[in-house]
Amino acid sequence: MLVSAKEMLEKAKAGHYAVGQFNINNLEWTKAILQTAQELNSPVILGVSEGAGKYMAGYKTVVGMVNGMLEELKITVPVALHLDHGGYEACYKCIEAGFSSIMFDGSHYPIEENVAKTTELVKVCAEKGLSLEAEVGSIGGEEDGVVGMGECADPQECKQIADLGVTMLAAGIGNIHGKYPANWQGLSFETLDAIQALTGDMPLVLHGGTGIPADMIKKAINLGVAKINVNTECQLSFAAATREYIEAGKDLQGKGYDPRKLLAPGAEAIKATVKEKMELFGSVGKA
Ligand code: 13P
Repeated sequence: MLVSAKEMLEKAKAGHYAVGQFNINNLEWTKAILQTAQELNSPVILGVSEGAGKYMAGYKTVVGMVNGMLEELKITVPVALHLDHGGYEACYKCIEAGFSSIMFDGSHYPIEENVAKTTELVKVCAEKGLSLEAEVGSIGGEEDGVVGMGECADPQECKQIADLGVTMLAAGIGNIHGKYPANWQGLSFETLDAIQALTGDMPLVLHGGTGIPADMIKKAINLGVAKINVNTECQLSFAAATREYIEAGKDLQGKGYDPRKLLAPGAEAIKATVKEKMELFGSVGKA
């Protein structure tokens, strides 16, 4: 059964480790992540962006697929199904479809509007027992070939949003989605430290987990990060393994064209990436 991310993140924050959010794109992704979490006895959060939800034929399809897998694969570790960077309307759609966790990304609104909409969703999620992630300070990334640098959130605004009763808070600290550019300045630990000082026990979320060096990840966890989002890195591993298979001509040998064979190396590569991250984040054995 899907669970809210509240308990696993409170335990992570208290225990000084982080739970990984791995974004899913299809059945192979979902299965690879769930099997790895079970094998390593780690809690896990499956992230679904609005785009990925649409790609997978809608949120209800995703809920059906994930619930089916939890049962058929006998997954017993805590699993949360989480909307990633949801707009206001997507939040309601996912709540209705049966997600166990929601991110409302109001970071692009003026702070007053972010506060108003987050307040409303805190109430709705509390009634249904769902966890809610809010965001302050937008997280940069590549858009139309231009890499936007991540903003640093205002710690006072973080406190304002944290005090509304959200479960976890994503705050921009110079992190960005996708690959980091060569001239990236690194994470702003000064900002993270200031946010943690004002938000106390609130589990903090680090987006853009792909490509952040291990020492920075460890330092971020020490400063209160309890959830780390990874998406691009699984995509890169999947693509590299699939490329290798095709380039070796394996799809042309026997029934190598069978999707169950063609997609297998990519799925194994996702498992290896998820394992590496869970070990780095310290969530292994914490289910
Ligand atoms: P990456 O794609 O950089 O790993 O970021 C994932 C993320 O933050 C999803 O919200």
